[in-house]
Amino acid sequence: DSTVAVIVVAAGSGTRLGHAEPKALVPLGGDTILGVALDAVYGMREAPHVVVVVPADRVAEVRRRYQPRARAASAGLVVVAGGLTRQESVARGLAELPREIEVVLVHDAARPLAPAAVFDEVAAAVEARGHGIVPGLPVVDTVKRVDAEGRVLETVDRSELAAMQTPQGFPREVLESAYAAAPADFTDDAALVAAAGVPVDVVPGDARGFKVTVPSDLHRAEQLVAERAG
Ligand code: CTP
Ligand code: MG
Repeated sequence: DSTVAVIVVAAGSGTRLGHAEPKALVPLGGDTILGVALDAVYGMREAPHVVVVVPADRVAEVRRRYQPRARAASAGLVVVAGGLTRQESVARGLAELPREIEVVLVHDAARPLAPAAVFDEVAAAVEARGHGIVPGLPVVDTVKRVDAEGRVLETVDRSELAAMQTPQGFPREVLESAYAAAPADFTDDAALVAAAGVPVDVVPGDARGFKVTVPSDLHRAEQLVAERAG
């Protein structure tokens, strides 16, 4: 069995998307956003153990719907209820890891088109280096620091910036101890691990790893899924 686990956090409500369903369960390409994300996860070279974290009232339904896909990949699938923040949802997922897991990837279900190859590269880099590994993309827009009144203070040196994606990968014990010590609410696991003093390296991300946040993102995801199918 694989010693890699992927925690897919899918317990958010998707306020900015504004759909009746929680974001991960919004239809996409004849499946759901979560289902498309799981296709990438099960497309890894070696199928990982998967923990999906969903809204409490959707646990049974998600288990029923996606268990067959896990079985087809001969991989474990555990579905648990999330918390009020992303960080709490990751913590609930971490609590479900089987003993043999050594590398943990945390992935946003809201990034359904992140390719399987990125998951493989992140997992391999964690194994090779023993650090936290995050996929990142160069920032293409000019970025400025702005004050509370909206006045531009300065232009930030773009060459020093990278936009972070998921899956973010960590040695299991690193992520577990960072979470055990977690002070505040971090929006990103790499920030939490870095705050605990562990190195985090960036590897190349992929444009398809964009996050579905607002309706136009869902439209873009639909187009990409359709192109892929065609
Ligand atoms: N997430 C989670 N539990 C939470 C909040 C977020 O598992 N309490 C997950 C989301 O399901 C998503 C990922 O974290 O896959 C990134 O969060 P975001 O894009 O902000 O999703 P939502 O919080 O659902 O959206 P919004 O902020 O617009 O409400
Ligand atoms: Mg959110």
